[in-house]
Amino acid sequence: MKVGFFDSGLGGLSVLKEAIENEGLSEDIYYLADTKNTPYGVKDERFVRDVIFNNIDYLVKIGCNPIVIACNTATSLCINELREKYTDIVFIGTEPAVKVAADSKQNKKILVLATSITVKREKLLNLIDNLHIKDKVELSPADKLVLFAENIDCKDMELEINNYIKSILMQYNLDEFSHIVLGCTHFPLLKDNFYKVIKEINPNLTIQVIDGAKGISNNLIVNINRLNGNKTYLKNTKKVTIILTSKNQDFIARTKQILDKEKIKFEYKLQ
Ligand code: DGL
Repeated sequence: MKVGFFDSGLGGLSVLKEAIENEGLSEDIYYLADTKNTPYGVKDERFVRDVIFNNIDYLVKIGCNPIVIACNTATSLCINELREKYTDIVFIGTEPAVKVAADSKQNKKILVLATSITVKREKLLNLIDNLHIKDKVELSPADKLVLFAENIDCKDMELEINNYIKSILMQYNLDEFSHIVLGCTHFPLLKDNFYKVIKEINPNLTIQVIDGAKGISNNLIVNINRLNGNKTYLKNTKKVTIILTSKNQDFIARTKQILDKEKIKFEYKLQ
């Protein structure tokens, strides 16, 4: 079985990492990163939608099914249309983990950070509406985090990254919040920065920083088992083929910083 993963860039690796390392995903994986057009979140919606369709077309043509849309922006823009167009393909989408935060039943607020496209699309607004937590949720774009997470030198840029995170968090009274939901798959790659900044602001804060990687991975495994006719799920060597839409050596090096290169066999190719 060929399992497709799709993101504008590196962000989907936060989902892939969870799926491989904690859920034992062991199918052949084809990870398509749209290095040519990243970042999506600040671009024209119609343009982004068109490039997403081209990329998904590619994954479908090489035989991927299921396909994980490991990108909140792409999910909020067009997952319904993708499902309408490719009726034989199982798509697993990515949504900010607001439900997880709401289910914790803490009587505090939830801050959702995502790309500019995600925070204004009705998919997220409907989700919040349906959970009846509109008055408890604050939404903020944090697009620059996508560029920071992609940067090969992001470890050396800690101060700059932390200052950016701080400039967003300081707009809120963090005492009132129980959760920060990372609603873009790039952001969990900087989760440690969030905890450092929160501690700096006030060491007594008990905010949890959460993302949707676990939920998406669980959903993926359930779907793989269903497509496989519930055969026993074997854990064996993983092979990940990373497909880029434009040459990018830094991307390749950054991939190896994120995924365990001892345990995973990589192959890279250009679309
Ligand atoms: N990782 C993506 C997301 O979850 C895309 C970010 C971007 O390209 O702006 O939204």
